Order: sequence, then C-alpha cells, then structure tokens
Amino acid sequence: MANLEKIQMNESGLEFSRFIQGYWRMAEWNMSSQESLTFLKQHVELGITTVDHAHIYGSPSCEQLFGEALKLQPSIRDDIEIVSKCGIQLPCNESGAVAHYRSDAKSIIESVDLSLSRLGVDSIDALLIHRPDFLMDADEVAEAFKRLEGAGKVHNFGVSNFSASQFSLLQSRLDKPLITNQIEINPINMQSLDDGLLDYLSENRVIPMAWSCLGGGRILTETSETMEKVRATLAVVAHEVGAESIDQLIFAWVLALPSKPLPIIGSGKIDRVASAVRSSEIALNREQWYRIWTAFKGHAVP
Ligand SMILES: NC(=O)c1ccc[n+]([C@@H]2O[C@H](COP(=O)([O-])OP(=O)(O)OC[C@H]3O[C@@H](n4cnc5c(N)ncnc54)[C@H](OP(=O)(O)O)[C@@H]3O)[C@@H](O)[C@H]2O)c1
Repeated sequence: MANLEKIQMNESGLEFSRFIQGYWRMAEWNMSSQESLTFLKQHVELGITTVDHAHIYGSPSCEQLFGEALKLQPSIRDDIEIVSKCGIQLPCNESGAVAHYRSDAKSIIESVDLSLSRLGVDSIDALLIHRPDFLMDADEVAEAFKRLEGAGKVHNFGVSNFSASQFSLLQSRLDKPLITNQIEINPINMQSLDDGLLDYLSENRVIPMAWSCLGGGRILTETSETMEKVRATLAVVAHEVGAESIDQLIFAWVLALPSKPLPIIGSGKIDRVASAVRSSEIALNREQWYRIWTAFKGHAVP
C-alpha cells in the first residue's frame, strides 16, 4: 500500500486517508462487480482507504453495488473505513410527495440498517447526517446515535452541509465530538471560506471532508467564456508549479487550506484518482493560490 498520509479524526484513534474515494457516481461507472473490486483494490493500493457513501446514492443503489464487490473479497473490509450518510428522503415519482429531510430517530436507525444490509457489513466507521433538517430535534438525533453505537452498528458520527450554528447545536447534545462536517469546497463555491465555517471547524479542531472539489466536473467541462478564461489562468499556474493537469492543480488549491480538508475524489477512472493523489506533492505559493481565487471570483482581493 502506498504511503499516503493518514489523518486522525478523533481521540479514539479513528483515522481517514488524506484523500477519500467518493461513490456517489458509482452507478454511472457501469462496472461489473469484479471491475468494482479491482477499482477498490487499486485505490486502496494508492493509500485511499476511506470510502464515502450515502443511502440515497445511485439507481441502482451504489451501496448495493459496492456490497456486491465486497462480497467477492470480504477480507478487504478490514483495510477500509466506510462512511455513509442518512436523512434525505426521495419519494417515488408516483407518490406526489416532495423530497424532504428526516432526522427523527426511527428514520436514522432504519436508514443505517438499510445501508448495512446493502453493503453486507456489520458496521460502518462513520455515519453523517447528510443535510441539516430544519425540523431536527438534536436530543432525538443524539438518542439515535447512542442506540446505533450501543448496537455496534456505527462507530463514529458526523454531519454534512451543516452551518456552524447547526453543528454547534447538535454537538451540544453529544458526549463525543462529531468527527467531521462534509461540505462543498472548490473555487466555484467558496462559501465556507467566506462565511467563517472553515474557521469555526479549525477552531474546534474538526477536519472537514471536501465534496465536489472539481465542481462536479464543471471546472473542466463548462463551455462558457468565463470558464474558458479561468481555465487559461489555471493552465499557466499548472505549468509554473509542474502540475500534470488543471484538475490536479485544483486539488492542490483545496489541500492548501489551513483547515486541512480531506478531498473526496469523484472520478471513477483510476488514472484520474492517482493523479489527484499526486496533487499532495504540489506546493502553491500564496500569489499562485490567490491568482486562482482571483480568476474564479472575477475580481482582485479588496
Ligand atoms: N455531502 C454531500 O452533500 C455531497 C454532495 C456531492 C458529492 N458528495 C461526495 O463527494 C464525492 C465527489 O463529488 P463529485 O463527484 O461531484 O466530485 P468532482 O471531483 O467535483 O466531480 C467528479 C466528476 O468530474 C468528472 N471529471 C473528473 N476529472 C475530469 C476531467 N479531467 N475532465 C472531465 N471531467 C472530469 C468525473 O468524471 P470521470 O468519472 O469520468 O472521471 C466526475 O463525473 C461524491 O462521490 C460523494 O461521495 C457529497
């Protein structure tokens, strides 16, 4: 296994890999179970041992597809950390109901049971509440976490897309620290840099997980005049720092943040995954980092 850095996520010894493999798009990859297992083994070999799932990902279910790959070599479970998420309810088309959030204890526990059966595992390493629920009763969520931990089904808990105040509210009801807040971080969406969320997480020594570092691919593929200009700037900086590609440069830009976010890689192509991992060897100086900031913001720093 490659010597990729491991990051301690809490004082109980939970460690995640410096990069995480995202499985949201797995159903689009059209891999057989054997191909999925090969992909998993390849990224574990690169040092990416942490995988990111959610009970709503994919049709067919990505957790189910992943579980079928795991079944071919169950021992690989011991080499990885599985993160999953709960709380988004997508109704079937015919029902007329709208998508909504459910963070009541019954829904959280049922969602975990479904994830475990699809993945074919006894427990997951971390469960995240996928989105902040305006109707969330923090005491009830804490109770659900306690029951899941007591039953040995989930070992650690965190959140995703929470504001600082939502994070703080839930944390106030828990005995153990939330391990992460999984949020969008990329140069198209710098909200967490602007609204103080990253500062809040650093202050509380919480390591964020960063989703859609490439803006879901938009940074590479969007054909607007603005994005063409941004890509031209990125190409210049990439050349200066010896980056292999613009995507690798963007991962280096995220890694440079002092809150030390763990990028979740969304690609299903192992060459792109390997290239993302090598972004940790790229050092941007401050002027280069801000040149990328300026290109995306469309104006200079004040
Ligand atoms: N918590 C949340 O609310 C939330 C929300 C969204 C995502 N996530 C997590 O974050 C993970 C990553 O998100 P993401 O998939 O949006 O990540 P991303 O890295 O921003 O986007 C990945 C997409 O970009 C494409 N791509 C990568 N390199 C490219 C290139 N050089 N040229 C053209 N296209 C390229 C990939 O296609 P190929 O596969 O063809 O490379 C893939 O479709 C997800 O898997 C999920 O685990 C969490």
